[in-house]
Parts: sequence; structure tokens; C-alpha cells
Amino acid sequence: MSDPIRPDSVRIDLSDGVLTATLARPEKKNAITQAMYSVLAEATRRAKTDDAVRVLMFKADGDSFSAGNDIADFIALGSQGGGQVVDAPVFQFLKALAELDKPAVAAVRGRAVGIGLTLLLHCDMVVVAEDALLSAPFINLALAPEAASSLLLPQVLGHQRAFEIFALGEPIDGRTALAWGLASRAVPAAEVDAVADGLAAKLATRAPNSLKKTKRLMRDAEALWALMQREGEAFGSQMSSPEAMEAFMAFSQKRAPDFSKAG
Ligand code: COA
Repeated sequence: MSDPIRPDSVRIDLSDGVLTATLARPEKKNAITQAMYSVLAEATRRAKTDDAVRVLMFKADGDSFSAGNDIADFIALGSQGGGQVVDAPVFQFLKALAELDKPAVAAVRGRAVGIGLTLLLHCDMVVVAEDALLSAPFINLALAPEAASSLLLPQVLGHQRAFEIFALGEPIDGRTALAWGLASRAVPAAEVDAVADGLAAKLATRAPNSLKKTKRLMRDAEALWALMQREGEAFGSQMSSPEAMEAFMAFSQKRAPDFSKAG
């Protein structure tokens, strides 16, 4: 496993009804460790249950929103046989996201990779930098989609665009994300946080129960969680596969993976 979380790798702050979770591991492009997922899960559960919280906001320090799951954690879990168990911190976070019935907002600059992108499918307002780069390269790592993205991404983009994002793993920029419906605003990078803060502040003034009912009507939390668990089976079995181990090693060794012998 990666190093234990530094206490400041995710900062949680409540201000004027907005609970902000800030990814704060910029030296690793905000790659998310198991320990960080635990903090995110707790914050997301708190957002649902604490009446003082009207809106959950995701932000990030540094030049990247998130490089996705920490690959050192993938290597450790894969060598233990994979099998994403539903009480693992990442699943606690996903379950909390599926069940969140208050608005979530994200402020995205730079890279948003893997769960850095799929997390956005659970946010109700997403502000991206025009030059942000969003990707879900699960297949480049010989993995499978997670976070209900196998349903939500094609729902937003259509099958062909979603399939290309999964299968080729190439990024789309913030302007494209806006044009394709994955973002609510695309603005210059320097304005992302302020625009997201403005939207969150407005949401925090709206009738909370009406907002909750609206969000619940728009999303089927139970179905999303059921799908997340099914996806977890595919993801978990891939994680310990020879092709995934090759992909993880290739990343650590800063080379391209060789899948020519896989099959
Ligand atoms: N897990 C663990 N460490 C990661 C990471 C991840 N997902 N993403 C980046 N890092 C680390 C790098 O290993 C590097 O560490 P080092 O300085 O000790 O060598 C550091 O973060 C900076 O990353 P680097 O690759 O040098 O930055 P970059 O600007 O050239 O590229 C990315 C940024 C995000 C495009 C690139 O790091 C990347 O592709 N990361 C992997 C993304 C991924 O596949 N995530 C899993 C999705 S399921």
C-alpha cells in the first residue's frame, strides 16, 4: 500500500453551508489512496446527514484535479488477489456518493483521470477549466469502469463517445466536456474555483428539502449502488489479472504496457 495518509491529504472545511473536500496531494497529482477514500467517504456521509451542510463541494490543490486511484494501491491490492470488497474505503465513498441527496459541485482544473472523472458523474454542477483534460483510461490499465460510469457516462455522452473514452482512454478537454454535457460551465482555469463557489453559494440558499426531493427524483440511488457493486466484481477480478499487473508495472517503470501476450 502507499504511504499512510498525511493528515492534510484531504482537507475538509464547512463554511456557509458548503462542505468542501479538497484533494491535497498535489505532488502525486492528487492520486487517491485508500486512506483518502476513507476521508472522502466520511465527508460525503456527513454531507447527507448534517443539517448544517447544504452543498458538498469537491476541489483540488495544484495543477491536477485528480490522477485517479493511486496505482501503488492497485499493485498492492492486485498482488493480494484483487477482489474489491464492498467495505473497502473506495466502495464506502462510492456508496455515500450514490446515496447523497444534497447537491454536489466540483471545481476541476488540469487532469481528471479515472475516478477523477467518474466522480463528476455524481456531481450536480461541474465547473471545468477550458483546458482541463478529463479521461477514464480503465482499459489502458486493463481494468473496467467503476462508480456506475458504465451506465452514467453513456447516458450523458451516448454509447459511442463513452465507449471511446473507456476504450481508447484519451482525454477530452473542458470545452468538449461542456459541449458533450459532462460539465455545467467551462471557464478559464483561474476562474474555476470562484465560479464553483458562486454556484454552491446559490444552491446553499435554496429550499433544502425541495432540492433533496429533486435530486432523489433524478437519480435512483439503489440502482446506482447495485451497479457499482456489479462493476466492482469486474474491476476486482481484472485487478489481479496478468494484463493489469503488466499495466501497473508499466506505469511504475514509466513505459508503455505490452498487451501482445495477453489473452
Ligand atoms: N497513482 C500513483 N501515483 C501517481 C498517479 C497515480 N494514479 N498519477 C501520478 N502519480 C505520480 C507519478 O508517479 C509521479 O510520481 P513521482 O514524481 O514520484 O515519479 C507524480 O505523481 C507526478 O506524475 P507525472 O506522471 O510525472 O505527471 P504528468 O504531469 O507527467 O502526468 C498524469 C500526469 C495524471 C497524466 C499521469 O501522472 C498519469 O497518467 N497518471 C496515471 C493516471 C491513471 O491511470 N490513473 C488511474 C485511473 S483508473
